[in-house]
Amino acid sequence: MIDIDNVIAGYTPEVDILKGMTLHANKAEIVTLLGPNGCGKSTLLKTIAGFLLPRSGRVMLEGADVSRQPVHHKIRHGGVGFVPQTENVFSALSIRENLQVGGHYMIRRDTQARIDELCALYPVLRKKLDTPAASMSGGERQILALARALMPRPRLLLLDEPSAGLSPKVLLEVFEAIREVRAKEGITILMVEQNAMEALRISDRAYVLSMGTVALTGQAAELMADPQVRELYLGGRAT
Ligand SMILES: Nc1ncnc2c1ncn2[C@@H]1O[C@H](COP(=O)(O)OP(=O)(O)OP(=O)(O)O)[C@@H](O)[C@H]1O
Ligand SMILES: [Mg+2]
Repeated sequence: MIDIDNVIAGYTPEVDILKGMTLHANKAEIVTLLGPNGCGKSTLLKTIAGFLLPRSGRVMLEGADVSRQPVHHKIRHGGVGFVPQTENVFSALSIRENLQVGGHYMIRRDTQARIDELCALYPVLRKKLDTPAASMSGGERQILALARALMPRPRLLLLDEPSAGLSPKVLLEVFEAIREVRAKEGITILMVEQNAMEALRISDRAYVLSMGTVALTGQAAELMADPQVRELYLGGRAT
């Protein structure tokens, strides 16, 4: 579904942040990207989304080379949704307005139908539809950010640390929301996470990144069961 082939990318001409990144996700898979701060996880998602263009290598989406496609094109025509790590909702706008922004490129009557659909999937949104997003809790806000990206029915969803800053209970609610939309809409999800064990529990596969390349990959269940992997990459013992 999405194939990243030996991608090299960076923000300035002298420095490569992604140093030959190769990975893939199949249709309707949840694939988690793990790795230490600064290893290039967000940069990878930004490169897939089209905020950054690769210096070399290819980003293939459903068999088409989309390496040079800018972000607005990928969101409008390419079926890609993106939830950035920070500032992923408009606090001053209501929940409804945030969803309308997410549906900016859609036909108006589809926008309303999709808002109704997402409110049915995530009832927490319906309760506060006309209140400012600023009044939401951290977990509710992440669900709104997810729903905003889901408005145009993406086939690939890129999530950058959806559980950041959430309590253990709320984190599980957000992961459940992610799992639900995969089950319901068969969407492919590529998710960066720091809460490794919890993220692996809802994932099919994972990649551990290190300094701009893939250090390790495998089935989520296998990685979780491997004591050495747990010790080295997943923050010690499972809880
Ligand atoms: N806009 C930018 N301009 C220049 N350098 C950047 C920019 N964004 C990130 N970098 C650098 O790229 C490297 C990788 O950053 P990136 O944000 O991809 O890491 P990350 O793995 O997502 O880290 P974290 O876990 O802290 O979110 C870092 O050295 C960072 O300083
Ligand atoms: Mg990051």
